[in-house]
Amino acid sequence: MCGIIGIIGVEPVAGRLVEALKRLEYRGYDSAGVATLERGSISRRRAEGKLNNLAARLESDPLGGTIGIGHTRWATHGGPTENNAHPHATAKVAVVHNGIIENFRELLADLATDGYLPKSQTDTEVVALLVTRELDNGLGPEDAVAATLKQIRGAFGLAFLFAGEEEMLIAARKGSPLAIGFGKTEMFLGSDAFALAPFTNSIAYLEEGDWAVVTPKGAVIRDFEGNPVERPRTTSSASALLVEKGNHRHFMAKEIFEQPETITHTLTHYVDMAEEAVALKDRLPFDFAELPRLTISACGTGYLAGLVSKYWFERYARLPVDVDVASEFRYREPPLDRGGVALFISQSGETADTLAALRYCAAHGQSLASIVNVPESTIARESDVVFPTLCGPEVAVASTKATTAQLTILAALSIAAGEARGHLDRAKAHELVRALVELPSAVSRALSSEGDMERIAKRLSKAKDVLYLGRGALYPIALEGALKLKEISYIHAEGYAAGELKHGPIALVDEAMPVIVVAPSDELVEKTLSNMQEVSARGGKIILITDEQGAETVGHGVADIIIMPKVHPFVAPILSLIPVQLLAYHTAVMMGTDVDQPRNLAKSVTVE
Ligand code: F6R
Repeated sequence: MCGIIGIIGVEPVAGRLVEALKRLEYRGYDSAGVATLERGSISRRRAEGKLNNLAARLESDPLGGTIGIGHTRWATHGGPTENNAHPHATAKVAVVHNGIIENFRELLADLATDGYLPKSQTDTEVVALLVTRELDNGLGPEDAVAATLKQIRGAFGLAFLFAGEEEMLIAARKGSPLAIGFGKTEMFLGSDAFALAPFTNSIAYLEEGDWAVVTPKGAVIRDFEGNPVERPRTTSSASALLVEKGNHRHFMAKEIFEQPETITHTLTHYVDMAEEAVALKDRLPFDFAELPRLTISACGTGYLAGLVSKYWFERYARLPVDVDVASEFRYREPPLDRGGVALFISQSGETADTLAALRYCAAHGQSLASIVNVPESTIARESDVVFPTLCGPEVAVASTKATTAQLTILAALSIAAGEARGHLDRAKAHELVRALVELPSAVSRALSSEGDMERIAKRLSKAKDVLYLGRGALYPIALEGALKLKEISYIHAEGYAAGELKHGPIALVDEAMPVIVVAPSDELVEKTLSNMQEVSARGGKIILITDEQGAETVGHGVADIIIMPKVHPFVAPILSLIPVQLLAYHTAVMMGTDVDQPRNLAKSVTVE
């Protein structure tokens, strides 16, 4: 997760930009840079590696100027070299960027026809070139940015500095957080309030699609359509806490909304974004091509992530997968062929049952792989290979951002397995990786339908029981929807494979029972339609989670529809987590429960 900082100051800013970037080090990075205006012209200093290298560069070659932007880069497109480090600049504009510009190739090709050529391998530079072309065509900075934002697709946080504009920065947010800091005589931009803590605690957060023109007088914020909007100014307590809630009421909401960023961050560790190919950083202690079977154990939400991956590994890699709840696996004494591979999924890396399952597998000659969020945890230490989820600390007890990161890794591993086993050719693998690369922006769009979830949560909060249905890889998402709802709202909920409905649970359906159907358009959606008709015929009230196409095919006669962006069916289970997380969250808020620390639950379950 890259870090962004901007200052419109009254004294030289280069040193303070680096100071603020140091507070963003926790986000992880592999190069850094700053740009300021010296007598109206853009000047930059950039360096590979840690901020000390940038500080040393600035010491030997100081940078003047009282306005500037800075960046810590976590390499996505192009290696972590000085030339790829941000800010990217032309003579007219400098830009720093967090996220992914999905359509940068097409845009670069178009720019090239007008003679605008990149000097780096990044996706970011296209933004600087697009703004420059608009400026060259006679637009002012604001209009040039507005025109550019309409052309780029993806998930991003952006900050712009313009030659000759000593009192203006522009910022834009779609998927990656950005905060505006209000000083007494100065103004600031930052990826979070923590970066701004030494300068100010008066903060306004940009919302999805917002962009802002920041001057010493304040900030004019507009939504994506260009309409002026007001965003509340809050007083941040970030100086005291590294982990804080930002502008969210609960950590769970903050963690749900971080997902475009946390998915991107995790993805860049497993995928070469420029090549759009899976590129695992560590050598595997096993060969997917030789594997007869993969054994997965985990608990709770981690188990459900494993269940989704079974559909992927079996379909795309023809690799048989056993997925077990770890507490069952450990006592079942399953026979394991020597030389097999066992995979454990755990946010905390400390869950007692998962650890016991791992030790059972170790004693039975398995190669041990784990997906964990806490790199120094016991499960990580006892594994032969660790696939880290790179989403930062998860504070809310109910897991959200760790789950989407786990699934991102499992998706990348299933592509790697498919290629190694000869079941995915390059074109198909490319298609699946592309779907993953496009996921963060789809997640960001899905998050913007939060209002629908709030409205529907009002109804759910009155229900005694709720049923979730899904088919194929969406079946585990139905299970997860029910798990999330029960754990934080205390409403009884069940998840079922849609086809199982008629084998028992249909007896529960009546007018009082909301039935949430997770059915994006795919090859199985018509089958789910029959199950929905079985529910409607018994007076059940269906809440359908689908996309535009799905709504046309199966959306008739339902009580409510939540429309998600259309994505490749491969990544639809990950995207579909967003509405089920938000539904559970808003229902719990309406019920007035302790959302972040629900009763009887612990974040790390280190007992049997
Ligand atoms: C559900 C949830 C739990 C955990 C489970 C395993 O929201 O958070 O079900 O998934 O306790 O925990 P980890 O992943 O730490 O092993």
